[in-house]
Amino acid sequence: MHIAVIGTGYVGLVSGAGMADFGMKVICVDKDKEKIKQLRKGRIPFYEPGLEELVHKNMEAGRLSFTTDLREAVKQALVIFICVGTPPAPDGSADLSQIKEVALSLAEALDDYKVVVTKSTVPVGTNRWIKQIIDKHKKNNVAVDIISNPEFLREGSAVEDFMHPDRVVIGGESAYAIAIVKDIYRPLYLAETPFIITDLETAEMIKYASNAFLATKVSFINEIANLCEKAGADVTVVARAMGLDPRIGRKFLNPGPGFGGSCFPKDVKALVHQGREVGSPMHILEAVLEVNERQKLRAVEKAEDLCKGLSGKTVAVLGLSFKPNTSDVREAPALTVVPELVKRGARVRVYDPVAMEEFRHWCPDLEVEYVKDPLKAAKGAHALIILTEWNEFRFLDLKEIKNLMAEPNLIDMRNIYEPEVVKSLGFKYTGVGRG
Ligand code: UDX
Repeated sequence: MHIAVIGTGYVGLVSGAGMADFGMKVICVDKDKEKIKQLRKGRIPFYEPGLEELVHKNMEAGRLSFTTDLREAVKQALVIFICVGTPPAPDGSADLSQIKEVALSLAEALDDYKVVVTKSTVPVGTNRWIKQIIDKHKKNNVAVDIISNPEFLREGSAVEDFMHPDRVVIGGESAYAIAIVKDIYRPLYLAETPFIITDLETAEMIKYASNAFLATKVSFINEIANLCEKAGADVTVVARAMGLDPRIGRKFLNPGPGFGGSCFPKDVKALVHQGREVGSPMHILEAVLEVNERQKLRAVEKAEDLCKGLSGKTVAVLGLSFKPNTSDVREAPALTVVPELVKRGARVRVYDPVAMEEFRHWCPDLEVEYVKDPLKAAKGAHALIILTEWNEFRFLDLKEIKNLMAEPNLIDMRNIYEPEVVKSLGFKYTGVGRG
């Protein structure tokens, strides 16, 4: 089966390479000429474990190729996956301009029956709107079926998630089109992965509701953590005990500096926006966003407390990406924490294993010092803040770090250290919710 994938971001590239690995012939399309040029050389534009190997393997096998020519790709394909971005618009709604552009290009290019599959996260009702655009503008009188097939991959483990998903969701009206898409995922079907076959609107809602629920868990545990600090309780034990109840589950109950990334903030905002528009307000999710914004400042407040003011102090920040194993800094807590530290008068040194270039790209004018390792960040610092739980931060040489620091204050926003151990080394330590 020939497949065209439009958009070579995380979702497009991982899905394209993954489907090629399932044995499909996949051509990935992007209008960014430079990106396609690099991809043809096997160069991946972002850091994602395992992706480069998967892309190389399938390029060499002749199953995966790249082009800027959408018309040509569509001509060869029976199934076209839309994987372009749906970033947040200023009012919180999902910006669907890239989706619209693709729908119009498809209307131009369709020359035969095609199945158009949306993988991009889109508000409920969007797939029907895509079909209307295509039907209204199509040049040839050909039939087209629309399928919603949301993707649940996590950055940092995207390849693993694509190959071993918890479920595959396929929404649509045409049984024929649903069967075609289901067939693409045959290796998963054979491995007894649950398939949810449903209508377009339900499939769209499953994606939003899932992300919003996970974000709710994070904001919930962050609020419990803040209360633990005041009440003298330990949130890590609370979360572990709560998680032993299978109705609750242990995952996504780790308090931290607030959730970030390209999905949670954007999807929760979009759902809140859609709720307002249709007169069904999402009160819980509005609170989830508010709690998250406040949580991002906790790291700064903790540093200010320990250092007794930040003016003229040096603060080291370890971890800029919104989570480990990715260079992605979109909506990362660091984008709030670092500028706020600077605003409150601190000199800031930052270190991240892979995300420093991206951070600089987002904050080009921010006066911070980028250093090459945690020890350089710690030298002469009055506080060290761990913002991302990269594995290399779990095994820092704390004795050496203490000797290098002007004042040994450690702010562990991911609770990766044992308070008693760190305190016994002479640090003043604060985690999240460890009252
Ligand atoms: C998420 C969803 O998990 C995925 O299914 C969806 O397709 C896209 O959005 P991702 O954005 O890659 O994936 O990150 P995820 O691992 O879910 O983490 C999101 C944020 O929540 C991160 O900032 C992370 O640090 C934070 N988080 C997560 C916590 O603070 N505590 C937790 O217990 C879990």
